[in-house]
Amino acid sequence: MRYDITNIAIEDYLHALMPPRSAVLGELEQRAKQHGWTLVGPVQGEFLYLLARTTGVKQALEIGMTTGYAAIWLLQALAANDGHLTGIEANPGRSALAREMIGKAGFAERVTIQEGTWFTILPTISAQFDLIFLDVLRSTTPDHNASQALEMCLPLLRPGGLLVTDNVLCSAQVLEEDPPPLVQGIKQFNEKLMAHPQLESVIIPLRDGVAISRKKE
Ligand SMILES: C[S@@+](CC[C@H](N)C(=O)[O-])C[C@H]1O[C@@H](n2cnc3c(N)ncnc32)[C@H](O)[C@@H]1O
Repeated sequence: MRYDITNIAIEDYLHALMPPRSAVLGELEQRAKQHGWTLVGPVQGEFLYLLARTTGVKQALEIGMTTGYAAIWLLQALAANDGHLTGIEANPGRSALAREMIGKAGFAERVTIQEGTWFTILPTISAQFDLIFLDVLRSTTPDHNASQALEMCLPLLRPGGLLVTDNVLCSAQVLEEDPPPLVQGIKQFNEKLMAHPQLESVIIPLRDGVAISRKKE
């Protein structure tokens, strides 16, 4: 069974209230509709921007980039904070498109894109990030599951830093008692996240469910 988390009319109302986006974000929103890409959308994009901007994020990591849409929202904040974004994307065509669109938005020098899977790339990174945007939960598998992604992200998050995870309510399928393996993995992730001794977290029913977690000092 699938449920809608957000009332579509409310989403339309929120979209209509928003000021026009930059040309590149507008183009990506149009292309997403044509191609069925699942991007965060303008409300969640603005939310990411405000989070990064108000907390002074300088070093950010995005896991799962598609076209660079969320990355551009984050980069708008990072540019104001003189910061940098590292991105991970497994699909070569998508990472090339993300690079192109981020360049078109004027942020080419503020991004490093690593092409490959999160489970191979994360263990090779030694940097500490102020914000990690984990946006691959819907692509996780029993072999490389959401809880593993959480454990791999934590050492890369500086104390006081923010982990933002998308799709934690997975079209409300988390309500099912015996959901498919992907959703079981997301339910386990949510339980681990909310009880994790190193984190303080809240899950917000925004769009497909967004978790915000702060790493304790
Ligand atoms: C939900 S989309 C990301 C959307 C993007 N954050 C945005 O809102 O603009 C998830 C992306 O993760 C990528 N992906 C899937 N499995 C992956 C993996 N194992 N490692 C890295 N990227 C992966 C997919 O190719 C897809 O582009």
